[in-house]
Amino acid sequence: MKVVVTRQLPNEIIEMLSNRYEEVVVWEKEDEPIPRERLLREIVDADGLLTNLTDKIDKELLSQATKLKVVSTLAVGFDNIDVVEAKKRGIQVGHTPGVLTEATADLTFALLLATSRRLVEGMDVIRENRWTSWGPFLLTGQQVHGATIGIIGMGRIGMSVAKRAKGFSMNILYHNRTRHLEAEEEFDATYCSMDDLLEQSDFVVLLVPSTKETHKMIGTAEFERMKKTAVFINTSRGTNVDEDALYKALESQSIYAAGLDVFEEEPISASHPLLKLNNITVLPHVGSASIQTRLQMAKLAVDNTICGLEGKTLIHEVK
Ligand code: GLV
Repeated sequence: MKVVVTRQLPNEIIEMLSNRYEEVVVWEKEDEPIPRERLLREIVDADGLLTNLTDKIDKELLSQATKLKVVSTLAVGFDNIDVVEAKKRGIQVGHTPGVLTEATADLTFALLLATSRRLVEGMDVIRENRWTSWGPFLLTGQQVHGATIGIIGMGRIGMSVAKRAKGFSMNILYHNRTRHLEAEEEFDATYCSMDDLLEQSDFVVLLVPSTKETHKMIGTAEFERMKKTAVFINTSRGTNVDEDALYKALESQSIYAAGLDVFEEEPISASHPLLKLNNITVLPHVGSASIQTRLQMAKLAVDNTICGLEGKTLIHEVK
């Protein structure tokens, strides 16, 4: 069997595959995605593919993969994979939910705190020698404790963000395709319409997957509904937000600030207009990036690959 791994992973992870299979091809460079041409070449006689969110696993690629049994992505999101096409070809698709929930909720909350309390600006003030004196209103931001948080998408990560919000005595609103009774019972979360959530929340946190329905779901109309003091946080996918509309909302201060871990195009260019604003905190898509969680994700991605190669049901199959 041949397995293609499109990113460098720790030896202990690669060995889980190389101890079992004759050929394990690992893309050599650490910080760059595998070039498309190379992946197209390698996939022709591959039985398994351990991929990640920077590879496009589309119809063109799948149609060349005549032996492929499994596509296993080291991520919970799978919007880079044409799952319908894979299934049509009898290829199983696996992902890594669950193990990354808490780390991603931690990062979401970290971004919420950093954005509302202006942590990065504070560090800049010191580094640039602009801290001349303690000041009664120096770097004052928005209060988190006791504020209203609106969670859009009450899935696993939404629930874990709600758990943290409860610890900060926040009033929790949520919007979801269906009601989430556990969130209501455990965290006193209140289900509401999108409009109500946008109008009432001090913090709007976006945690939905990227689909046709969620594409640019937060745009001009949604930003206009938000409070002038609202802090918008996105740790889901950049494509869920209209970035031009976000830029206008931040630039005109029709919302207070935004914290973003994800962008329409990644990596975002350093010259992007959004990055010229100072009411924004940005991170390079590191939601689940604790060492412990990434190792767990990698192990799960390998286990999914092995299950697929051995004709078993994957531990976490994309449904
Ligand atoms: C990261 O964004 C993931 O989908 O796991």
